[in-house]
Amino acid sequence: METDPINTEVNAKRRLRLRPATPEDRPLLERWDTEPHVVAANPNDKWEWQTELAQPTDWRQQFIAEREGRAIGFIQILDPARDESGYWGEVGDGLRAIDIWIGEPDELGKGYGTTMMQLALAHCFADPRVSAVLIDPLADNRRAQRFYERLGFRFVERRHLGNDLCCIYRLERSDWLA
Ligand SMILES: CC(C)(COP(=O)(O)OP(=O)(O)OC[C@H]1O[C@@H](n2cnc3c(N)ncnc32)[C@H](O)[C@@H]1OP(=O)(O)O)[C@@H](O)C(=O)NCCC(=O)NCCS
Repeated sequence: METDPINTEVNAKRRLRLRPATPEDRPLLERWDTEPHVVAANPNDKWEWQTELAQPTDWRQQFIAEREGRAIGFIQILDPARDESGYWGEVGDGLRAIDIWIGEPDELGKGYGTTMMQLALAHCFADPRVSAVLIDPLADNRRAQRFYERLGFRFVERRHLGNDLCCIYRLERSDWLA
């Protein structure tokens, strides 16, 4: 990931783009952190926006999804082997991990999350060194799991990550291409 530019990814058909998150997005992200559907998906996650947005790293990219200029969601792509928090434990090279949420409640369930994931996955697999992408929905977030399954992710295992019991899913490059 260190040689990748921070790209702006665009889906013209759905008029949706992913642009890099900046320190100016902090109030927006903190507001989204209080939305019940976001809390339900990440009840134990404490995002340190002030630090994270101000200190870009070469192993993590954070994007705001905008539709026709309105910010509607957030997506993060990171290299789990280089994640300095050690959240993912022992993982190999050539992987990416994604976190995603639609922040605005009135934009849920309209297909934008699917488009965001397609843009993010295309971005991940544009790097030929990336062999697979990981995600970690809570074990009881069945709706999110179905969302990932429809995108081609396959269930790997249930695992405790941080304070949560999660279901680890993985999308192989070959499944993405298919
Ligand atoms: C998961 C999420 C990113 C999907 O984006 P979206 O634009 O709402 O989804 P799409 O319209 O593209 O696809 C619809 C599917 O999304 C999932 N979904 C919709 N609302 C959801 C919600 N509140 N919580 C979890 N999944 C949801 C469901 O699988 C839904 O299909 P269904 O109606 O048949 O159950 C979005 O719903 C969201 O941010 N949910 C809350 C936070 C979350 O669960 N994030 C994932 C954590 S791993």
